[in-house]
Amino acid sequence: MNNSDIFVGLDIGTTSIKVIIAEYVKNQLNIIGYGNTGSAGLNRGVIVDIDQVVSSIKDAVKQAEQRANIDISNVTVGVPANMLQIEQCHGMIAVSNEDGSAKEITEEDVRQVTQAALVQNLPPERTVIDVVPDEFIVDGFDGIKDPRGMVGVRMEMQGVMYTGPKTILHNTKKCVERAGLNVSDLVVAPIALSQVALNDGEQDFGAIVVDLGGGKTTAAVMHDHKLKYTYVDQEGGDFVTRDISVVLNTSSENAEMLKRNYGYAQAALASDEETFPVQVVGKQEPEKVTEQYLAEIIEARLRQIFEKLGAALNQINAFQLPGGVVLTGGMAALPGIAELAEEIFQVQVKVYIPQEINLRIPSFTQVIGLVEYATKQSEIELIVKQTLGSANAVRHVSSSQRTTTKPQTEQKPVKKPKKNVKENQAKAGNDHNEESGFGYKFKHMFDNFFD
Ligand SMILES: Nc1ncnc2c1ncn2[C@@H]1O[C@H](COP(=O)(O)OP(=O)(O)OP(=O)(O)O)[C@@H](O)[C@H]1O
Ligand SMILES: [Mg+2]
Repeated sequence: MNNSDIFVGLDIGTTSIKVIIAEYVKNQLNIIGYGNTGSAGLNRGVIVDIDQVVSSIKDAVKQAEQRANIDISNVTVGVPANMLQIEQCHGMIAVSNEDGSAKEITEEDVRQVTQAALVQNLPPERTVIDVVPDEFIVDGFDGIKDPRGMVGVRMEMQGVMYTGPKTILHNTKKCVERAGLNVSDLVVAPIALSQVALNDGEQDFGAIVVDLGGGKTTAAVMHDHKLKYTYVDQEGGDFVTRDISVVLNTSSENAEMLKRNYGYAQAALASDEETFPVQVVGKQEPEKVTEQYLAEIIEARLRQIFEKLGAALNQINAFQLPGGVVLTGGMAALPGIAELAEEIFQVQVKVYIPQEINLRIPSFTQVIGLVEYATKQSEIELIVKQTLGSANAVRHVSSSQRTTTKPQTEQKPVKKPKKNVKENQAKAGNDHNEESGFGYKFKHMFDNFFD
């Protein structure tokens, strides 16, 4: 088997690490191996202990390798949307010959225009995670998807740039490399997730996808096939488990088991007659608890999470998007979750569960999305992306030079793009303690956008 036909996705989650090995044959993705192990060393989606994460990654990869009966080396890894910022970028270069005559555009020119688009005043703690070209403009002719082979004297690139905390990116790469793997691509997690959780129409006309993870809950707005906005609430399913454990006075393991076996997201859907035994700390005999009481505990936390998401999404009028809300991620397996979300969001809500054999649980959506994303990248997207590595180096040199001469510029917010500010530019990274960041201007940028 040709190794280039093999794609591997790695999802480093707070609750578990998921790995998928897939082969791409005749435009068809076949999953040939998967691994899923409990994870340690993450807090709310962010790596806090490299050694523990490395060991969990190794375990999950080993499982997948054994199932697929192949050794893997390159992986596509998801980067959590914590403190993500999304903005437009624009670059322009001359492509003419030395005498000023028009010349054929090459791959090297594409790299150069990408570098020009990446020159930004980033604060030292932030870095570019990804850049996705939107269109190329050659001598004023816009809408070009791939300019290679065309003739012109001036080329522009318009795209979307995703930036995030350097520490998140560094730690993610470090863990993967220390686990003996090579990072072939780092993908902003909700972009990959949307590839599978949303259908083509939803990605195009607009929809909200919510990833109900263990350590965090991420809402992402997709429109025009682009990620426009993210909101990360730093509470997830593990908080629900903790609530159950505290209220019922039982161990975390028991609480997790009760949630999965008897849990409902909405108390109104659960029976007040059906009971189950709970092993209470300090008591010999198990106590009987009704399904409805358990559901009340679960609903209280979920309601709190959904209300925060709802407030943030309302600020940008995201509920006006025709696709409504799609829920996925581990907690989306809870019965009644769509009903609860619908009651709070007041729009159509559905749950996405992968249909691949052995992977029919919503925890796997993210990692399947990573593999799908890897297979769908166009050549031009790959060239732009490859430029990112070298451009990062260039930019960091120039930013440290700036620091020595003009230290005051260092703390400035990311420079605003010059054109088409109404679109694409979303100051995301609205981890729940940053809600004050929703300013008047920001809201109205999206008013325009969602019109
Ligand atoms: N059948 C189920 N019923 C209820 N909850 C479930 C079920 N299966 C998994 N969960 C919950 O889903 C959560 C894990 O989801 P997921 O695997 O998507 O998280 P993660 O990717 O590890 O974490 P994160 O994305 O937050 O970093 C846990 O809180 C777990 O209890
Ligand atoms: Mg996750």
